[in-house]
Parts: sequence; C-alpha cells; structure tokens
Amino acid sequence: MADPLRDRFVVLGVSGSIAAYKAVDLASRLVKAGARVDVVMTKAATQFVTPLCFQSITHRRVVDDLWDRNSEMAVEHVGLAKRAAAILVAPATADLLAKMALGFAEDALLTTLLDTRAPVVIAPAMEGDMWANPLTQEHVAKLRSLGMAFVEPEEGRLASGLSGRGRLADPEAILGTLRQVLGRGGDLAGRRVVVSAGGTQEPIDPVRLITNRSSGKMGYAIAEAARDRGAEVTLVTAPTALAPPHGVAVAPVDTARAMHRAVEGAARGADVLIMAAAVSDYRVANPAEQKIKKRGEAADGLTIELVPNPDILQEVTGDFVRVGFAAETEDLLANAGAKLRKKGLDLLVANDVSGAGSGFGSDTNRVILLGRGGEIEELPILPKRAVADAILDRVVAILAGRGRGAGGRRWVETHR
Ligand code: CTP
Repeated sequence: MADPLRDRFVVLGVSGSIAAYKAVDLASRLVKAGARVDVVMTKAATQFVTPLCFQSITHRRVVDDLWDRNSEMAVEHVGLAKRAAAILVAPATADLLAKMALGFAEDALLTTLLDTRAPVVIAPAMEGDMWANPLTQEHVAKLRSLGMAFVEPEEGRLASGLSGRGRLADPEAILGTLRQVLGRGGDLAGRRVVVSAGGTQEPIDPVRLITNRSSGKMGYAIAEAARDRGAEVTLVTAPTALAPPHGVAVAPVDTARAMHRAVEGAARGADVLIMAAAVSDYRVANPAEQKIKKRGEAADGLTIELVPNPDILQEVTGDFVRVGFAAETEDLLANAGAKLRKKGLDLLVANDVSGAGSGFGSDTNRVILLGRGGEIEELPILPKRAVADAILDRVVAILAGRGRGAGGRRWVETHR
C-alpha cells in the first residue's frame, strides 16, 4: 500500500507568520510524496512569501483572494473544500486560530475551512506568549474538540530573538500527523498494532553494555506503515538513532526484560504483535554496580557470566496475529521454518543479514515471508518501507481470514 499522500488532494493553508517560508518546504515535500497540493494563502501570508513561489512548486494555481474576478474563485473555494482529502494549515497564526474557532469566513482560507468536511491538521507558529495565552489555548481546545488535529509548536529561538514554545513543528512531524489522518480509512483502521524495534542493551557495568547491530529501521518503517494504514500503533523501541515516528505511541526501553514488560502491557487486547527488535538472547548475570577496572597485567582475561533472557515472542500470550523476524546467516529457510513452528507464529519474516542491500543498518531489505501453512513468498530487494507494507499486506489477509473463520482464504492465494 502506498503513501497515503500519493495522488491525494491536499489543501495547504498558509497564514501570515514569518514561518510562512517554511510552508514552501512543506509544499515541496507534499509534492514529492505525490500529493496534489492546492495552496490557499491569507493576505498577510502573501506579505511574507509570494503566491508565485508556491505555484512554482505545486504547478497549480494559488488561491489568495476571495474576490478575484478573473478566477473561478467564487466557486473555487467550495470546490477545494469539497475535493480536499485533508487540509493542512501551516503555519497557523493566533489570529487565524481565533477566527477559525469563531467560524469567521472573511477570506479564501477561512471560507475553505468552514466549508469542508475533510480532516484538518493545524501546525501553529507564533510568539511563545501568544501561544501560551489562555485565549489562544481556548481556541485550540475548541478546534481540538471539533476533531481537528494539532501539531504543536516547538520550543526554540523565535523570530523576535526570544526563546519560547512557538516555532513551527518539524516538517516530518507535520507530515507524519497528516499521513496518520489520511490513513484513517486504511485497511488497518480500528486495529491495534504493537511493533518492537531496535537492538536491546544489556548492561555489563554502568558504562558498558552488550548490544547488536540492529538500527531499528525495519521496525520503525513497520510502525509508520501501520499508522499510515489506519492502525493505532505502539512502538516499543530499544535505543536507536532514529527520530520517533509521529502519530505513534512510543515506549522506549533498554534491556530485553524491559522490552518484555512493555510488550506484554501493550499487547493486551492488541490485534497484531510484530517483533522486529533484535532481542539479546542473554544478559549479564550480575551487572557490576561500579565500572569494572582493568585487573592485573592485561594478560589476565575477564569472564562475564551470561544468563538467558525471556523469549518475548514465545512468552507474551494473547489472541493477536504474531509476527516474528529471523535474522540468519546460513540455512535461511530451514532455520526460519523451525523458528516459525517453535514460536507458534502466524508469519515469519526471514532475512539473510549477510547479503548486500539487506539487514542491519541498510535502507533496503531482502526477505522471505513464511506463513503458518507453509506458504513462502520471496521478495526482491526493496526499501524497508516497501517490505513493511508487504508484511502488513499479509497481516491484513491473516486478520481477514480469521474473521471468516477456519475456512478463510490463505494469503498465498492472493499473491500475484
Ligand atoms: N525474540 C524475542 N525474544 C528474544 C529473542 C528473540 O521475542 N529473547 C524475537 C525477535 O524479535 C524475532 C524472533 O524472536 O522476532 C527471532 O529472533 P532470533 O534472535 O533470530 O531467534 P532466536 O530464537 O533467538 O534464535 P537464534 O538466535 O538461535 O537464531
């Protein structure tokens, strides 16, 4: 399944904040993601950025005047309001929020917003004290209560030179929320999906630890893909260098035992558990409380005793679709098949981590999907996001099969 932004009509509403220049970048990212972007600007916004600037990126006419007699504008705002799959307002000023909350319709943007039934995502930007002002907060609360989604401003240096919470949120945060909103009607809508990611860390002493080469990219891609398909996602993640995905509940953990507890809690009542994390099979029996010092004259070795960790996939019980990963360096199919049976999985994603373009740290992955009934699907090298969607295609089929009872269609039959 593709990016929820692809081929969707998105109205980008821009109001008069200095952050309007950042909306140009947003427009560009939206276009790159395949969205059809109609920009609607307030008069004040045009003081900061020209309509031509947006038009050059979107290749579509920019609407900035409700009363432009030369355009089809008299009806165009209605057209935009009805056609939009979603409306993103970024940046939204305090003035615009107030007018939206009161139902003003004095310009093209406000009219479009008042006239639409599409979901609305709002990314405010303003001086910190204006954002904190109880009046602004009251308007935000009102708009939230009407179902509008907010991507709150960030803390940082503001145009005034002062610091505070008022800076337009990071573009990926804004687009993540927009994707989540657009994905609500997806094939995982109403489903609760738990994903684990990253390599767990087992302490040896306060400064050293045992971990592995997992980057977390595969698990994060699955969490984002599930979010984009409408799922309510919990991502239980060991430490990674990745930015937490937006629109996903993130539970950070470090050790395998901490991950066990977090997954157990999150999986209660879940529809799907996908264990993409590389969980340390062993932990140090007695981690030292103080840093271990070099002993004697170097030649003396150091022995660390390891004890087994719980197998999370095997031990967390529940009526969810259970998906595991197998990272293998030899006898891929035989080892993976054995793992699927031993861990009682519905689906196993096997990857040969020794191959190029596959496995740890890579942006691509080459996997073989194994089903409970012996189904085997070999995928080519694909970006991790595409692998994530292929896994979720199978998960959706398994969920649908369960809904139809024991005679449900097996996913292998739906392939190709
Ligand atoms: N896994 C788990 N808990 C563990 C170890 C692994 O839940 N303590 C999960 C992983 O998240 C993955 C799957 O089990 O989805 C397979 O992990 P892997 O380490 O490849 O398999 P093991 O059963 O540990 O076998 P081996 O290390 O011998 O290959």
